[in-house]
Amino acid sequence: MANSEDNLFKNVIAHSKEYGFIFPSSEIYDGLSAVYDYGQNGAELKNNIKEYWWKFMTMMHDNIVGIDAAIFMHPTTWKASGHVDAFNDPMIDNKDSKKRYRADQLIEGVIEKLEEKIEKEVEKAAKRFENFDRAMFVSTNARVVEYQKKIDDINNRLKEAMATNNMEAMKQLVVDLEIADPISGTKNWTDVRQFNLMFSTEMGSVADDANKIYLRPETAQGIFVNFLNVQKTGRMKIPFGIAQIGKAFRNEIVARQFIFRMREFEQMEMQFFVKPGEEMKWYEYWKEKRLKWHQALGLGNGNYRYHDHLNLAHYANAACDIQFNFPMGFRELEGIHSRTDFDLKSHEKFSGKKLQYFDPEENQNYIPYVVETSVGLDRMFLSVLSSSYKEEKLEDGSERVVLRIPAALAPNKVAILPLMKKDGLPEKAMEIMNSLKFDVRCFYEEKDAIGKRYRRQDAIGTPYCVTVDHQTLEDNTVTIRDRDTMKQERVKASELNAKLSAACSINNLLKQI
Ligand code: GAP
Repeated sequence: MANSEDNLFKNVIAHSKEYGFIFPSSEIYDGLSAVYDYGQNGAELKNNIKEYWWKFMTMMHDNIVGIDAAIFMHPTTWKASGHVDAFNDPMIDNKDSKKRYRADQLIEGVIEKLEEKIEKEVEKAAKRFENFDRAMFVSTNARVVEYQKKIDDINNRLKEAMATNNMEAMKQLVVDLEIADPISGTKNWTDVRQFNLMFSTEMGSVADDANKIYLRPETAQGIFVNFLNVQKTGRMKIPFGIAQIGKAFRNEIVARQFIFRMREFEQMEMQFFVKPGEEMKWYEYWKEKRLKWHQALGLGNGNYRYHDHLNLAHYANAACDIQFNFPMGFRELEGIHSRTDFDLKSHEKFSGKKLQYFDPEENQNYIPYVVETSVGLDRMFLSVLSSSYKEEKLEDGSERVVLRIPAALAPNKVAILPLMKKDGLPEKAMEIMNSLKFDVRCFYEEKDAIGKRYRRQDAIGTPYCVTVDHQTLEDNTVTIRDRDTMKQERVKASELNAKLSAACSINNLLKQI
């Protein structure tokens, strides 16, 4: 991360704590690594993101329904899903710094640096030549060809080591690439070991192995095991989807970067069940739909890109990420996976129960194929927060920090501010707030000078401030201030509800998709 991005990220983290968005978990005991609590404003923003997703999935699609499955599941679920045997990360420790890393990420870091070198060569050449042909350049320039060859070689070795579970080969790659620990600067590494990411606990009073259960590492399995329950009771016809929002837990080896990688987080997942052979059509469909859902927020279309997976998970025949331009660069925000019939087939095998769909059109039973969309709620939160955070210099030379959060997602939609704490202005302001509070979330404040109160609302992203002054008492008009333009206009108090409801409506966002 470049210095300015690093600073920006630090400022976003500090701001989110100062203004009640995110607190370190159990902070009075010095916090718990990679676990966070959402404060009064964070909880509202998070709920609004959930509503935006839930409505899009379950109301905009008449063939998708939502469920809420338990976090605890029968332990065999995780045998069947492959998580007991294969949900591992290769970890390596540096003996001098005593820090633990994911070996594959250290190796991918080398690849990223080589890719950056290629980009620099391309940028230099593009400036030099008119009618620059990128494809031609990267295939003929000796230096670029050499970098690319190195990348391919590392990728092949990494892929082979991962596929064959060969941790010695992984260690050899770290040694050959002369990777040094960023903290100690030494190459004094332990062997690479596989580390299962699932948290386990015991159910009931007898703590033996038979009672060992796991905290779910993904919400998807709660959908798979309920596939027939929902299909039958909901009389669902293929293609159809089941959506769910819920907590997931992973004992991440490297849990850094604030709420980007947490040990307890939330997922918004949807499994779409389709006829075998039609999965690629639906995979493309959901790739496009999900990108549009993100873009409708107006955080900037250039902040999103697709990243196709070359190394596919054991259950997938196609997969891609929608990446977002976070302060630390483009990273995975959402995964879209064509999961084949792997999960249902495996649950059928392990449970001994049939998990097949009777297709009345084909007059036959089959196990459907599945296309999954899976977005991290906390990562969505970070994408909104980090791209909304702006430090602005104003025309009068003053500065402000503003969260330009999309109005539909903002924690509060309007702040109701009596200009003074006397002359009946607070009572009038309360009356106006009472007329609005059933439709839009309001915030009332009467302390401090009005300018100071505006700044505080800017800092928590409130899109509108309504000021009640002496004229309000005479003609029932108020001033309404727009957070982004800082322009104020005088409007009738009776028009506020319709104006604010339209400007802050999640439904209006959904209509754009
Ligand atoms: N059911 C598929 C699945 O879980 P994944 O790519 O491992 O796939 C899906 O996770 C999404 O969950 C990711 O795109 C990311 O947004 C979020 N996610 C995964 N691990 C996370 C973590 N440790 N902290 C926060 N979000 C995470």
